[in-house]
Amino acid sequence: MSLEYDVKDLSLAEGGRRRIEWAESEMPVLLHLKERFEKERPLKGARVSACLHVTTETANLMRTLQSGGAEVVLCASNPLSTQDDVAASLVTHDEIPVYALKGEDHETYYKHIHSTLDLKPHITMDDGADLLSTLHQDRRDMLEEVQGGTEETTTGVIRLRAMAKEGALAYPVIAVNDAMTKHFFDNRYGTGQSTIDGIVRATNILLAGKTFVIAGYGWCGRGLAMRARGMGANVIVTEVEPLAALEAVMDGFRVMPMIEAAPIGDIFCTLTGDIKVIDKHHFEIMKDDAIVSNSGHFNVEINIPALEGMASEIRRPREFVEQYVLKDGRRINLLGEGRLINLSAAEGHPASVMDLSFANQALSLEYILEHKDELENQVYTIPEDIDREIARMKLESMRVKIDVLTDEQKQYLSSWEEGT
Ligand SMILES: NC(=O)c1ccc[n+]([C@@H]2O[C@H](COP(=O)([O-])OP(=O)(O)OC[C@H]3O[C@@H](n4cnc5c(N)ncnc54)[C@H](O)[C@@H]3O)[C@@H](O)[C@H]2O)c1
Repeated sequence: MSLEYDVKDLSLAEGGRRRIEWAESEMPVLLHLKERFEKERPLKGARVSACLHVTTETANLMRTLQSGGAEVVLCASNPLSTQDDVAASLVTHDEIPVYALKGEDHETYYKHIHSTLDLKPHITMDDGADLLSTLHQDRRDMLEEVQGGTEETTTGVIRLRAMAKEGALAYPVIAVNDAMTKHFFDNRYGTGQSTIDGIVRATNILLAGKTFVIAGYGWCGRGLAMRARGMGANVIVTEVEPLAALEAVMDGFRVMPMIEAAPIGDIFCTLTGDIKVIDKHHFEIMKDDAIVSNSGHFNVEINIPALEGMASEIRRPREFVEQYVLKDGRRINLLGEGRLINLSAAEGHPASVMDLSFANQALSLEYILEHKDELENQVYTIPEDIDREIARMKLESMRVKIDVLTDEQKQYLSSWEEGT
């Protein structure tokens, strides 16, 4: 095979393929798009460089884009989230170049991003904006050919909006994250379930009866709080936004600053997109054996360098658990090196929810190619009719029917004259 790639072991490909097919059976909307793309080839000739978590669901997205006629190349959007069998299968069975190794170091991570950019993309796909940011900083010679990009997650969208505000964004980007059919479901139900899955797989602890501190009550935090409560944990929420904090209170959670939650929590998880949400002064007052994890995009939410500085010894009692023994003898257990715990210790979101997110990705690509001449160098929200169409297809696949407005109802809802 003349294909260039960097994956761990091609002999894992068969197992990867079986898991990709298993995920596909839970992704009816994407499959439907794949079938349409095969016939219509709307992405014909488009070169797509993607930097996404290399999971079974992403594999199905890549295969869908390929069916639409795109030339795709993939690297990881996180050093720990790659599923090596999936990477091997994409190379072996689909001839898609993949540059991703689970556990790759920082240097390899960026080397892989550069290899992915070597395709000279027309379209970039990001989850956290590392590919786009590298392209803007180090590979500016390629910018001219780029027609647009997509961004999967909240943190990436925040980075892109900052770039657009400064006039630094060199091509239009669609904020897939902002689609209702993305963050309502992926961030809430996907992160809610898969974060619990990651914490439990890493530790095998019982959640019932534990005090579970959740930092951030955005879409992800709400989902995790809801599921942690369902497993019998006593949930505490920390927030900085009055509205979000009030919502958490009304949803029945205890809300307090992290400094008050730190000494009473058994398990901590950050989902804020912010930095140093758990810091040195919090570690100083945590209980012995506290478990600390993150499910926000970057591993900066927990101040890991501070924790390292406080430790006299670092042990590894289980895979994905680093136990920092502090000078006073207390132990703090950091999960998955502070990286997205649902992707490092578990398998990320279940396929059924990624079906919605990745249908948005596929349709965004089609939209960019169709509208490239009208789009400006800004961050765009997904058009509402794409969102609604994805929800309709998902309901149809679930065999759920809904009512349809009658003409009288349509008229009533659009008139302002009718009152009491
Ligand atoms: N684990 C995953 O698979 C996954 C999936 C989707 C999104 N994400 C990431 O999770 C993070 C959160 O995403 P979201 O969609 O919930 O964002 P969001 O903007 O809806 O919510 C973030 C919340 O955190 C709060 N916050 C900010 N700083 C804080 C602090 N210091 N202390 C306490 N609260 C603070 C904000 O007020 C906000 O309410 C982002 O980094 C996003 O990229 C992860």
